[in-house]
Formats: sequence, C-alpha cells, structure tokens
Amino acid sequence: MRVVAAGVPGVGKTSILNEVAKRSRYPIVNYGTLMFEMAQAEGLVNDRDEMRKLPVSTQRDLQRRAAEEIAKMNDVIVDTHLTIKTPAGYFPGLPKWVLDAMKPEMIVVIEASAAEIFERRKRDATRKRDFEGIEDIEEHLKVNRYTAFACSIYTGATVLILKNNEGELEKAVDRFMGALK
Ligand code: AP5
Repeated sequence: MRVVAAGVPGVGKTSILNEVAKRSRYPIVNYGTLMFEMAQAEGLVNDRDEMRKLPVSTQRDLQRRAAEEIAKMNDVIVDTHLTIKTPAGYFPGLPKWVLDAMKPEMIVVIEASAAEIFERRKRDATRKRDFEGIEDIEEHLKVNRYTAFACSIYTGATVLILKNNEGELEKAVDRFMGALK
C-alpha cells in the first residue's frame, strides 16, 4: 500500500515521519528530496526552500519525474505536500498525473493550530521558511483539507486528519502507527 503524508511547512511532518520510520515496516520516501536532488544536479537550486520559487513549469517537470520514481516503489510512505505555496498561487502537490502514478490508499493530513505552526517556524533555524501570519497559515490549512478530500474522491483513498499538538509528538506517532495496521 502507498500512504501519502502531508502538512503545511512547520507542522512537524518530518518530526513525525522520523519516528514512524523507526517503528514501521514501510520505507519513507521524501518527495521534496527526490525533486531537490534532480534540481540540484541540474544547477537550478542550492537549497530545498528555493524549489517553490522556481517557475511553475519547472516545478511541474521535476514533480512529474519524481512521481515516475515513486511509482516504481510499493508499500511506501510518501512524505509530500497537498499544496505548495508559490509566488503564482497554490500549486497542487498531487495533481491527477501524480495520483495516477502513485495510487495512494491513505492520505494523512498532519495539522496543528496556525498559532503553533507560526511558533514552530520561528523556532526552526535550520530552514529558510517563508514568513506568514496566522491568517495565511489558517488559509493554507483549509486549502490542504479541501485538496485532501478532492484527492480522496478521485482515488478512493481514506483521509486521516492527524493532530500534532504542541508537545504531543508521541501521541501523533501512535495514531499514525495505529492507522497503518
Ligand atoms: P519538504 O521536504 O516536505 O519540506 P517542508 O515542507 O519544509 O516540511 P518538512 O519535511 O521540513 O517538515 P515540517 O515543515 O512539517 O516540520 P518539521 O518536522 O521540520 O518539501 C520541500 C519542498 O519540496 C517543498 O517546498 C516543495 O517545493 C517540494 N515538494 C514536495 N512535494 C512536492 C510535490 N508533490 N509536488 C511539488 N513539489 C513538492 O518540524 C518543524 C519544527 O516543529 C521543528 O523545530 C520541530 O522540532 C517542531 N515540532 C514538530 N512537532 C512538534 C510538536 N508536536 N510539538 C512541538 N514542536 C514540534
């Protein structure tokens, strides 16, 4: 089975998946890393946070090639995004051709409150996160939910809304593991 895990930047997606990786039999593949390795090899970007600023046509090409790689893998958790905020607006992380290639059976939408995400982004010095206010983060959370259900209708995948509340990472990991059984 293929599982998609997604959430707005700073929600704690990687923190949860690092713990899931220790307990699950499913390997985890990071969509952004696949795209970044291709983009870096072609001299397009120096870090992963530059990718969402590339022309959308370039992002779409990298996205398509990454989907082809993932389509070769079975029983995998794909760490990715439902939507990416680009200067040209929301770009779908899972357009029709990506869903057709990946055929996910479960979509995990990782969420926290916009205020928690705001604080986590401020604390995380390892990344070049975009500055966004609480209202912008709230909008992105809503857009991701709508997108998850659109993907669910198209693929038949279930949607798990997974809360990663402040200081409750372990609880979120336990819930994720329960859903994999
Ligand atoms: P990606 O690699 O997914 O990066 P990201 O969006 O920044 O997300 P992260 O994986 O870094 O995780 P996170 O931000 O959720 O949070 P973290 O665990 O670090 O994507 C990179 C790029 O690839 C995208 O921008 C896009 O360009 C491209 N891409 C990917 N998929 C694509 C697709 N399908 N199509 C097109 N492009 C695509 O945690 C953040 C902080 O919070 C940490 O400091 C952590 O310690 C803290 N924290 C976490 N959980 C808790 C908690 N419960 N309590 C307190 N603190 C917590």
